[in-house]
Parts: sequence; C-alpha cells; structure tokens
Amino acid sequence: MGLKRGAERISTERMSDGSFRGMTFLFKIVDFFHPHIDKRVKKFGIKEGMTVVDYGCGPGRYTVKFAEMVGENGRVYAVDIHELAIEAVNKRIRKDNLKNIEPVLIQGYDSTLPDNVADVVCAIDMFFIIKKPTEFLAELKRITKSDGTLVIDDGHQPRDVTKSKIFDSGLWDIVEETRDHLKCRIR
Ligand SMILES: C[S@@+](CC[C@H](N)C(=O)[O-])C[C@H]1O[C@@H](n2cnc3c(N)ncnc32)[C@H](O)[C@@H]1O
Repeated sequence: MGLKRGAERISTERMSDGSFRGMTFLFKIVDFFHPHIDKRVKKFGIKEGMTVVDYGCGPGRYTVKFAEMVGENGRVYAVDIHELAIEAVNKRIRKDNLKNIEPVLIQGYDSTLPDNVADVVCAIDMFFIIKKPTEFLAELKRITKSDGTLVIDDGHQPRDVTKSKIFDSGLWDIVEETRDHLKCRIR
C-alpha cells in the first residue's frame, strides 16, 4: 500500500480497509474470550499525569486503558497511519466523553508530535509490521523524554528478531525483558 504525497508515492505499512475491519472484529472476539489488556498494561510503568503515546493504536483498545491510567492531568496521543483507527478512537472519545486522548493520523514515520513529549511510548502488536525499523525507532526516540520509556512487543515475530532490530538501530538499550514485552531507554 502507499499514500500519495504530491508526485511521490510513499510506501507505508497501511493495511486495506477490509483488513482493518477484520482485525478489529477479531480483537473484539479475543478481548471477549481472553480479556488480558487490564493485567498487561499494569506492567508498562504508566502513572497518573504522564504523557503516553499509543503508537499504532489501531481501534484504541489500549488507548482507553492508558487514558484511565494517566487520568485527567495526563494525556494520551493515539497515533496511527490508518484513517479507520483514528475514526474508531474518535468514536470512543465521543461515546465515553474522554478528554485526555488526542488522535493523530500520520503518514510514514513522521508522527508530527513535538520532540521529547512522551514519558512512555507504547508500540504494541505493531513493530513486526514496520519495514524500516531504524527509521521508526529514531522517530520514537525523538518524541520520548530523555528519561522516558519505550514499551515494545514482538507481535508476530520471534523475540530475537525484535531484539536484533532494536540493537542494530543503535538508538535504544533494552533495560527489561518479560515474556510479554521489552522496555527500552534512550541510549
Ligand atoms: C495489529 S494492529 C495493533 C493495534 C493496537 N496496538 C492493538 O494492539 O490493539 C497494528 C496497528 O499499527 C498500525 N501501524 C502500522 N504501521 C504503522 C506506522 N508506521 N505508524 C503508525 N501506525 C502504524 C496499523 O495501522 C494498525 O492499526
């Protein structure tokens, strides 16, 4: 898939609308039969008042949990390259009158967020899709505070592939590793 920007065609990881809808439906089934997100996010180190970026937010199942955790003094940026993701998050914001979530539709690896904005950046179930991991990790580094944390997981790739992509970037140190996720700090 690609997005038109002027005459240039920029390759991105954007899935088709049909695939996005199918994925959203599947998430609903998984979350109904195997509710795991509440328990999982408790280990991410997110606290009241923090600024969190949910990078590759999809339909926002993590975004709303992060919003609860940071509270009214915190902020969650819900970033995605897919219009349907931003639409879904906006719908949820309206339905639940959520005031601390800002959906951000982006192109490529430019999140358009300010430098050093995030205490925690979460890239959940999406790093395996990224075609240019070093470019991607550089953008995550740019938006993370110097003492901030990146929480990233494997998604559909083996752990050693995730780790070698992070290591090869030369940008992040892995400071914690669980079966579920990796925590990284800026090198
Ligand atoms: C498998 S879904 C996971 C969604 C969500 N993180 C979750 O776990 O429920 C992957 C999401 O990452 C988004 N994505 C893929 N490449 C991206 C990129 N370069 N920048 C931002 N989002 C991206 C996709 O559009 C999709 O919504």
